[in-house]
Amino acid sequence: MLDHLKANNRAWATRKVAADADFFKRLERQQAPEYLWIGCSDSRVPANEIVGLDPGELFVHRNVANLAPPQDANYLSVLQFAVDVLKVKHIMVVGHYGCGGVAAAVDGRRRGLVDHWLHPIRDLYREHQAALEKIPSPQARLDRLCEFNVIRQVRNVGSDVFVQDAWARSQGLSVHGWVYSLSNGLVQDLEVSVSGPQDVEELPL
Ligand code: CO
Repeated sequence: MLDHLKANNRAWATRKVAADADFFKRLERQQAPEYLWIGCSDSRVPANEIVGLDPGELFVHRNVANLAPPQDANYLSVLQFAVDVLKVKHIMVVGHYGCGGVAAAVDGRRRGLVDHWLHPIRDLYREHQAALEKIPSPQARLDRLCEFNVIRQVRNVGSDVFVQDAWARSQGLSVHGWVYSLSNGLVQDLEVSVSGPQDVEELPL
């Protein structure tokens, strides 16, 4: 079963060792990534590949619609480990245009459990309904909502006690909001980076 994937894996491991004989030995001893990526599960948004980072260089958390919900134990565990143990220097919340999760949050159709998961995006839409509905193109409106969602998640991460405590002890840590475009492979920085409690207060959303 899945023999092609196992063959791919063997070829990949061989290539890595051919280029760098100690590659896996080094990784086995330690992981010391400087970055935490919080992104969408979408298969078209491969975190390491997009930013050209090797194994060991990027700590990754992905879920539907790149959410950072303050009560989600999975996300919080990743965040605390990244901040307190790995001491990452940067956290990137990375949304993407054309996100099916963001679209599903507001299309009014029932899907089951995921409707609960996407609840924060529905709330965000309602908060900014007037501004969003001024955008005539439905696609552009959803893309704007993708950006709003990223900014809101930057706020969630920046407001988290683990992050606030890191700042209180002068640990260097910034949270950034990016959006990835499926159509050209480029990341856009939404320029909502926060590096301290005051920055979080000043976020637009
Ligand atoms: Co998505």
